[in-house]
Amino acid sequence: MGRCMSMSMIIYLRRVFLILLMNMSGGLSDPQTVLLRQDCTRQSPIRVELSVFMSNFNKTFGEIRRQLSNNHNIHFATTVQTDVYGMVQCRNYLSSEDCLACLDVARIEVRRNCPTTDGGHVIYKGCFLRSSIHYFTLIVCTSRY
Ligand SMILES: *[C@@H]1O[C@H](CO)[C@@H](O)[C@H](O)[C@H]1NC(C)=O
Repeated sequence: MGRCMSMSMIIYLRRVFLILLMNMSGGLSDPQTVLLRQDCTRQSPIRVELSVFMSNFNKTFGEIRRQLSNNHNIHFATTVQTDVYGMVQCRNYLSSEDCLACLDVARIEVRRNCPTTDGGHVIYKGCFLRSSIHYFTLIVCTSRY
C-alpha cells in the first residue's frame, strides 16, 4: 500500500513537472537570434545616395514585415519595392511574434555588417534574411546550418 502511494506520488509530480515545463516553453518568447553566418554582396557598392538606398531598403523590409504580421501562419515573405529585393524566412516552429523579432534584428544587422555594399544576407538560428538590388538567382538552403 505504502509503495503504491509513492508510485502515484511520483507519477503526479512528474505530471506537474511536465505541465510546468510546457507552460514555460510556451510562454517564453525566443526569436533565436543566434548568428550562424552572414555575408555581403561582393564588389557591389551602393550607387545612390545612402539616404535614398536606406529609404528603399526600409520600404522593402517594411512591406515584408507587414506581410508577416498580417498573416500569422506564414513564415516566408518576399518583395521588391523601389530597387531593393528582400526575402525573409523564419523557421516554421517560430511564433509569429518571434519571427517578427528575428526579422527586426536581421534587418538592422545586415545593414550594420554591410554598410557600403548594396546587398547581403544574415542567417540566424531562427530566421534568414536576404537583401539585394538584383533579382535573386541563388537559392540558399538554410536547413544546412
Ligand atoms: C530606416 O529605418 C530605420 C529603423 O528601422 C531608421 O532608423 C532610419 O532612419 C530609416 N531610414 C530611412 C532613410 O528611412
